[in-house]
Amino acid sequence: MHLLFLFSLSIWGVIAHKHPDICTAKPKDIPVNPMCIYRKPVKKVQEADWTEQEKTPESTNPRVWELSKANSKFAMELYKILADSKSDTENILIAPLGISQAFSMTKLGACDNTLKEIMEVFYFDSVSAKASDQIHFFFAKLNCRLYRKVNGSAELVSANKLFGEKSLTFNETFQTISEIVYRAKLQPLNFKEKAEESRNIINAWVANKTENRIKDILPKGAITDLTSLILVNAIYFKGQWKSMFDDDNTKLEIFHKADGQTCATATMYQESIFRYASVLNDQVQVLELPYKGEAITMLLVLPQVNVALSQVEQNLTIDVLQTMMESMRETTISIHMPKYEIEDSFSLKEKLQQIGLVDIFNPETAKLPGIVEGGSGVLYVSDVYHKTQMTVNEEGSEASGSTAVVISGRSFPVHRKVFKANRPFLFCIREVTSNTIVFMGRVSDPCSE
Ligand SMILES: *[C@@H]1O[C@H](CO)[C@@H](O)[C@H](O)[C@H]1NC(C)=O
Ligand SMILES: *[C@@H]1O[C@H](CO)[C@@H](O)[C@H](O)[C@H]1NC(C)=O
Ligand SMILES: *[C@@H]1O[C@H](CO)[C@@H](O)[C@H](O)[C@H]1NC(C)=O
Ligand SMILES: *[C@@H]1O[C@H](CO)[C@@H](O)[C@H](O)[C@H]1NC(C)=O
Repeated sequence: MHLLFLFSLSIWGVIAHKHPDICTAKPKDIPVNPMCIYRKPVKKVQEADWTEQEKTPESTNPRVWELSKANSKFAMELYKILADSKSDTENILIAPLGISQAFSMTKLGACDNTLKEIMEVFYFDSVSAKASDQIHFFFAKLNCRLYRKVNGSAELVSANKLFGEKSLTFNETFQTISEIVYRAKLQPLNFKEKAEESRNIINAWVANKTENRIKDILPKGAITDLTSLILVNAIYFKGQWKSMFDDDNTKLEIFHKADGQTCATATMYQESIFRYASVLNDQVQVLELPYKGEAITMLLVLPQVNVALSQVEQNLTIDVLQTMMESMRETTISIHMPKYEIEDSFSLKEKLQQIGLVDIFNPETAKLPGIVEGGSGVLYVSDVYHKTQMTVNEEGSEASGSTAVVISGRSFPVHRKVFKANRPFLFCIREVTSNTIVFMGRVSDPCSE
């Protein structure tokens, strides 16, 4: 049997399914008893990234804060793997939070080394809870914080669902926890006899949850007669800039790609006060653009002209990123930023294997006994799909028919600090209070489209 997973996401959101109960619940109110409990073998030496210098903000549960850091650490790791595997001229876009969440759900049914690898690869073992079952509770709390809807502010929505082969009996405990903690209901489908129809149903669900931005998350042939369960996560974000770019200021400007080629791309412009810093001996500029509501921001990391983004990527850790963010100050700045629309789509299986998630993909070694009743030793994960899409424009959200008009000779005061993203840069979309990286990527070529 196979276990297939997929995640999808898109920017621009939909309706949140709110069950306020989980958000106010205490650990004892939530029946989280996965089949296997993971205990950290020996107390690990604290890694440099996790030093106490950083205090948990007030009003944040320290475990939720740790989980958020764990997720960000995984995000950085996955980003680096992708940066290594792609050429310098290719864009990257990942939604790491959705991946961590989907594997946290899978963890509910995992045992032995399969469980251990999940705990380590996603850094769940760095959360100082007594046992691994607590992760689910904190994930629920983190989700409550992330996806609450604030009036007039950016929308961030996540949805989960399980699609299971109808001839199988899924473990009640697994279903109950998935539903309570991750709001993931199980829908039975006929994978064996109606693979294509099932694929269409799942793809349609994802398209619906992403405002039709992610279609065909499952490629042809993804469902076979061995498929048992498909876990789906969809995340979307839609935000308007707190300070929008004026359409009239958008001009064609030259973008310098990493390989020395150039292209002309519609570039937005504004001069305003933002949090900004020049860091690492002035080798890198960082800038934070808030969306309305200010709970969510886009962080931009732009190396100076003579510094390659790949050098910055190699040095980047959560700690380095944190230091960069802490050095930002309110600054009047001229911003030139390309409008862009990027998408990414790949199988995560190989990437996750590279960072140590191995057993779960191998039918011989995978241990997922907690998912199907009496199903010890028969399930494994056959593939993991990831597809992302993002549009950045003057408003912050998708706006159709925005045309660039070529007018030369824009002038701006020379004494102003300038943030001119006319070469490859890195970005994160993050939720501020929990410091969670929701999307991460790089723009290496805004012209390809
Ligand atoms: C379902 O999973 C629970 C633990 O999560 C386990 O105690 C129970 O035995 C499982 N039920 C079956 C029928 O496999
Ligand atoms: C929500 O937004 C509406 C319309 O902008 C406004 O009238 C209302 O006062 C806002 N409510 C809150 C709680 O901010
Ligand atoms: C998604 O489905 C709901 C319920 O059927 C519907 O109201 C909504 O318009 C759909 N959204 C999209 C983007 O298709
Ligand atoms: C990366 O790290 C190396 C070694 O610590 C340092 O020499 C270099 O300046 C750093 N580069 C950037 C762009 O941060």
